[in-house]
Amino acid sequence: MTVRIAPSILSADFTVLGAQIAAVERGGADLIHVDVMDGHFVPNLSIGVPVVKSIRKVAKVPLDVHLMIEEPDRYLEPFVKAGADMISVHVEVIPHLHRTLQAIKELGAKAGVALNPSTPVGSLEEIAGMVDHVLVMSVNPGFGGQTFIPRSPSKIQAVRALLDRQGNAAPIEVDGGIDGTNAARIVEAGATILVAGTSIFGTGDPERATRDLRAAAMLKAGV
Ligand code: DX5
Ligand code: ZN
Repeated sequence: MTVRIAPSILSADFTVLGAQIAAVERGGADLIHVDVMDGHFVPNLSIGVPVVKSIRKVAKVPLDVHLMIEEPDRYLEPFVKAGADMISVHVEVIPHLHRTLQAIKELGAKAGVALNPSTPVGSLEEIAGMVDHVLVMSVNPGFGGQTFIPRSPSKIQAVRALLDRQGNAAPIEVDGGIDGTNAARIVEAGATILVAGTSIFGTGDPERATRDLRAAAMLKAGV
């Protein structure tokens, strides 16, 4: 099984963002996770299209853009044009999810659906056959540095079962509170993309922290 590590730049030092990205890439980062917040869907503001465009110039790995915004349909094309390879939209804000996923695919990016901790797995039922990845939030979105919600592994298992029932091998990504103490449990539950901000950029050595997180995820899980 291949585990992908996706450092979240939300916790990076933005004064030296290019260097921080290079460090996690040396540490084996598979994706760069970019958290976009609008101050409406989540109570915080972060970054937008121009930053993705700049990151695209320096990053060697694909950009995984997590849209924590209302009306994401308005911004799909700008983000893909700026360099997003994967886009996750929140099911909680989208009236026509099937159409939104199709739009992302037509733009040439991978289309993912994100679920808040309180959102039932069943909300994926009708689109589980077409989604390119599912992002399970293991904290309430909006801030880095929160505590991993213990119920998350059972939710990951339920999402995996739903995707499998529909014959979809799409990966499950997990986001929030991930570190070396819970990474193996998350992988054992069926996730293969781990997003981590604080446990990577909150350390003095993001390169090493990226490597350590992968080792924790794979060794303890025995994969
Ligand atoms: C939370 C964001 C996460 C966040 C994770 O709203 O979606 O990607 O950066 O940060 P940590 O790893 O600190 O929980
Ligand atoms: Zn995120």
